[in-house]
Amino acid sequence: MSLLETATAVRENAYAPYSRFKVGAAIRAASGQVYSGCNVENVAYPEGTCAEAGAIAAMVAAGETVIAEVLVIADSPEPVPPCGGCRQKIAEFAGQDVVVTLCTTDGKSLAMTVRDLLPGLFTAAHMDRT
Ligand code: THU
Repeated sequence: MSLLETATAVRENAYAPYSRFKVGAAIRAASGQVYSGCNVENVAYPEGTCAEAGAIAAMVAAGETVIAEVLVIADSPEPVPPCGGCRQKIAEFAGQDVVVTLCTTDGKSLAMTVRDLLPGLFTAAHMDRT
């Protein structure tokens, strides 16, 4: 399955009773293996866990830590942008040139790089004087 097919399929499993906004994400890791995630909300923290964070958790749980490509999809008027926290989480495991494709369920898509998504990224190098 392609990243688009995988993310589209996993989005159906999203648990989003508070926002009613279902999101699916798929990651191709360095091995070629594809990992997926959907958003999972809860009553105490209605924003819950994002789809991207779920896909990253699945990848790390499987023993991989290098992202080769990411795709995110939602039923949004415009290609859905990852939240700030997810941008940092993606950047933890992806190089600056890794492509993140933002999609809508009606076929729009926008390919961005990690560099585009998170200029001025905080890295471990910023802690070098501690
Ligand atoms: N959400 C994601 O899962 N990924 C994004 O890139 C944007 C937002 C989720 C979090 C929450 O469950 C819902 O969408 C509304 O914010």
